[in-house]
Amino acid sequence: MRVLPIGAGTVRQAPFPDGPAAEVLVDEQVGGGQLAAAHVTIPPGGAMPDHAHGESTALVVPLSGELLIASGQHQEQVTQGVVVLLDHGERVRLANETNEPVTLLAVFASAGFVRALSSWPATTTTAASTGTSGRGGDGAAWAEVHRQVVEQATHAPSVHNTQPWRFASYAEGLDLYADSARQLPVLDPRGRQLHLSCGAALLHAQVAARARGLTAEPQLLPDPADPAHFARLRLTSGKAPSERELALADAIALRHTYRDAFSTERLPDALLERLRLAAEAQGGYLRALTHPDDLLELQSLLSRADTAEQADPAYRQELAAWVHTGPADDGIPCAALPADPERGSSLRLREFAPNAAGPPSAGPPDGSPPAAERPDVVVIISDDDSPRSWLQAGQALGAVLLQAAHEGVMAQPLAQATDLPGSRQRLGAALGLVGTPQLALRLGYPTGAAAPGVATTSRRAVADVLSGHGQDSAGG
Ligand SMILES: Cc1cc2nc3c(=O)[nH]c(=O)nc-3n(C[C@H](O)[C@H](O)[C@H](O)COP(=O)(O)O)c2cc1C
Repeated sequence: MRVLPIGAGTVRQAPFPDGPAAEVLVDEQVGGGQLAAAHVTIPPGGAMPDHAHGESTALVVPLSGELLIASGQHQEQVTQGVVVLLDHGERVRLANETNEPVTLLAVFASAGFVRALSSWPATTTTAASTGTSGRGGDGAAWAEVHRQVVEQATHAPSVHNTQPWRFASYAEGLDLYADSARQLPVLDPRGRQLHLSCGAALLHAQVAARARGLTAEPQLLPDPADPAHFARLRLTSGKAPSERELALADAIALRHTYRDAFSTERLPDALLERLRLAAEAQGGYLRALTHPDDLLELQSLLSRADTAEQADPAYRQELAAWVHTGPADDGIPCAALPADPERGSSLRLREFAPNAAGPPSAGPPDGSPPAAERPDVVVIISDDDSPRSWLQAGQALGAVLLQAAHEGVMAQPLAQATDLPGSRQRLGAALGLVGTPQLALRLGYPTGAAAPGVATTSRRAVADVLSGHGQDSAGG
């Protein structure tokens, strides 16, 4: 028998505002991996937003105060004298809507979930004092929130995986800046694709923040004197995240660029409609190219633009500098390139390693159109061709890709069609668009080679892209 005191161990603070504090009483080692327990304090007005317990089944034993516990539509106010059993995988939200702290014992079998609690930052306060102070360990907790939000932001797509962003913590949130040293001078002399990439990273940060119950309304280009200051994202306590918001945050780990052939299954109209709404919620537009004539126009523009780019030695040299065979924390590794370079697509895809893969995959050698994959294609459109619109188009791109990944759909940009201002104009005119096309995407269901969630590209460490709270940014 072992008697374990409550209050003698390390108290850890949830890395989000007004979250609980937890002291792990029985960790994986003590409980042999089968059983674990934590003493948890939820401050007045505090909450543990919607979460599941991973591999663990959980038992919640209220010790003091009135605990609100909600699972789906079912919610209960519980006090000492009951135990609450939570099934494996069940999502719950715990909240304290009273003026007194709530304390509870949480027991987990198996022990996996305490690993999450053990990763919370340690506080110097005890659980009891955290309970009455409302926001114990605030500075450290906010720094950790910023770190986590930036970590998820950096999973965003970026042109050639250049990751051209820098983040800085300020008192109430995060600032996003361009990292102009990572701009592509040949492909992207005006920094349009750099803006698109940073817009996508901003959207990821918004999604990551909402999943933590924070409001995340960005202000674009907040400083007219500094065009490299792309956005200010104020992060404050907000309402608990919805199921959809949590699912979008989960999709961050599922999304990656898919360059293999898609299955022949077409995307349902209702899904395309959801993608359109996702783009519009960010101030962009999305047009699905459902008419064969529109696809032919895109196909022809794409081929012409790609041929012109491939003929430029400076373009090829710049691209080669971002394609890696060895380990690197940016750029495109060979593993991210198509498994089958001969895959026939009705669309000219960007050739990242022309020497390794031979001529562009434009179909059979006799010049007849390839019979293979004819994916769904959409175009992200902005109001105009200004830096603000580029950022919004990037946010729209991020939102569309996360919604798609959430629904099992993967995508590949067909950026050659929009790389040059002339191509953008021609594409806009050919499709009869109002606004400026910013990026075309092929979309579809993967055929298995590179399943969702199997990331092939790397990212720079958070410490390299986030400054503030005592951290230095190497991003310049
Ligand atoms: C503005 C922009 C343009 C891109 N253009 C292309 C492209 O033409 N072809 C392509 O295969 N991928 C393209 N990508 C995808 C990037 O190469 C990809 O996001 C990056 O390598 C990171 O990999 P991940 O998306 O798998 O995380 C583009 C991405 C962005 C944001």
